[in-house]
Amino acid sequence: MAVSASLKKRLRSYGPWAIVTGASSGIGREIAERLAEAGLNLVLVGRNEKALDEARASLEAYDAGIQVLYADLSQRKEVEKVIQQVEGLDIGLYVASAGFGTSGEFVKSSLEDELNMLEVNCTALFILTHHFAKLFQERGKGGIILLSSIVGFQGAPYAAHYAATKAYVQSLGEALAVELGSAGVKVLTAAPGPVNTGFGDRAKMQMGQALKPADVGLPILKALGRKNTVLPGFLSKFLVGSLSMLPRWGKVRVMKLVMGGMTKHQRSAA
Ligand SMILES: NC(=O)c1ccc[n+]([C@@H]2O[C@H](COP(=O)([O-])OP(=O)(O)OC[C@H]3O[C@@H](n4cnc5c(N)ncnc54)[C@H](OP(=O)(O)O)[C@@H]3O)[C@@H](O)[C@H]2O)c1
Repeated sequence: MAVSASLKKRLRSYGPWAIVTGASSGIGREIAERLAEAGLNLVLVGRNEKALDEARASLEAYDAGIQVLYADLSQRKEVEKVIQQVEGLDIGLYVASAGFGTSGEFVKSSLEDELNMLEVNCTALFILTHHFAKLFQERGKGGIILLSSIVGFQGAPYAAHYAATKAYVQSLGEALAVELGSAGVKVLTAAPGPVNTGFGDRAKMQMGQALKPADVGLPILKALGRKNTVLPGFLSKFLVGSLSMLPRWGKVRVMKLVMGGMTKHQRSAA
């Protein structure tokens, strides 16, 4: 799907540079590519150096300046280093796609892995959002895109902590969209359903039906400045829509069935 001339213009109006975390893979990489197509210069942030170098090489086909920052966002010092390293760049758009999930029985989860996820999905996202929100507010313009998830709208048994990190992102984004909107800063929270990326393997979730990153990247960018929350692609709309009539406790019960199915292989292997 190509970026239209009007969307290119709209995206460039935020500023000449965009920073994308999680740009080495999946949804972040897709969004980075669409932004390069729109003519923005990019700072690509990720941990996997080889994948990030490959992303940079593929984006060189576009007429965009590309900077690559290798950073493990679970480490506070490395998050702060990212902020220092982009200081001289005129960044107008921040996309927070770095994140990962865990799944399985809560009591069997590894404390270390769960805390690592909290650092990446919440703490690093918070520090960077705080930095760019302040910068953009002072400037009177800017765009922020935060990746939450449809699991962030209610509790999700067998992915309880991952869903809780995404509820944090969803809540933060919704509030900032209103708080910063009047200062010219557009904040969008994007809540995809299952997307076929590196996410499923790392989270040990067996996803049945899933979209491709290309199905969600452009809908997310189109929604920036138009909505506060987007459900990108038909699958997220369908899944959220089909739960909409249920009370919150009922949604949690359905999520138990869904996540239970996606993590069944873990219990049968144990
Ligand atoms: N795929 C789905 O079904 C789905 C659904 C809803 C929401 N989401 C959310 O969408 C976002 C993007 O996920 P994805 O589907 O594109 O998965 P992905 O292909 O696994 O990409 C995740 C990205 O996050 C980065 N990342 C993870 N841990 C990191 C760390 N410690 N430091 C720096 N970067 C780190 C990865 O970089 P490295 O590989 O370089 O470490 C990678 O670029 C995530 O926030 C995820 O929670 C995904």
